[in-house]
Amino acid sequence: MDAADWNARYLAQPDAWGTTPAARIVSEVTSAEDAGLSVGTAIDLACGDGRHARWLAAHGWQVEAVDFSEVAIEQARDKDTDEGRSGSVNWVVGDATTWEPAEKVDLVVIGFLHLELESMVAVLRAAGTWLRPGGHLIYLGHAAENLGRGVGGPQDPTVLPGITELARGVAGLEVVSLRHDLRPAGKATAVDVLVHARSWLDR
Ligand SMILES: C[S@@+](CC[C@H](N)C(=O)[O-])C[C@H]1O[C@@H](n2cnc3c(N)ncnc32)[C@H](O)[C@@H]1O
Repeated sequence: MDAADWNARYLAQPDAWGTTPAARIVSEVTSAEDAGLSVGTAIDLACGDGRHARWLAAHGWQVEAVDFSEVAIEQARDKDTDEGRSGSVNWVVGDATTWEPAEKVDLVVIGFLHLELESMVAVLRAAGTWLRPGGHLIYLGHAAENLGRGVGGPQDPTVLPGITELARGVAGLEVVSLRHDLRPAGKATAVDVLVHARSWLDR
């Protein structure tokens, strides 16, 4: 799907992903913080209408949230009304395959971005270079195995990553976690795939 397709989807179905962040992204960020990651600067790549970026900002992160759908970014800006929080979000229209941050960050979160597999590997590789030493990269998406075993998500196998593609994407980083993640989805179970990696600390 290109940006125009996503724009049409957001217009037809606002709030498609709900307002709460994915539980697995919350638990991975929280465990990274528990393990010593200081709250700082973050990127939410392919942020959609912003549920993860808003959650991060509510926890004090300064977030740059990027999506190539202008409609998604517009909807995200409209939903960004929490004045009491300590963090903030800079909403940006940009293509994940070409966009780059101006400065290195402490955290990159990518939730349910699905690209042709070689592009996905390249985006993960690029995202790894955006991290400060000790910074964390977390990707969660629908797994290749979700086709046939799971429910929902894209039905095109050419955009569904497996463990191998995610491993190639984080080559050079310290892998914290790389695994399938079974997620209750109504009466069914969705099969997600997760990689959580960290930029090596300077020695
Ligand atoms: C399934 S939605 C997930 C949105 C959000 N990450 C979440 O979990 O709520 C996938 C998002 O990826 C975005 N996307 C797809 N390809 C992209 C690209 N090449 N660059 C930037 N965003 C892209 C779409 O516009 C859409 O908002």
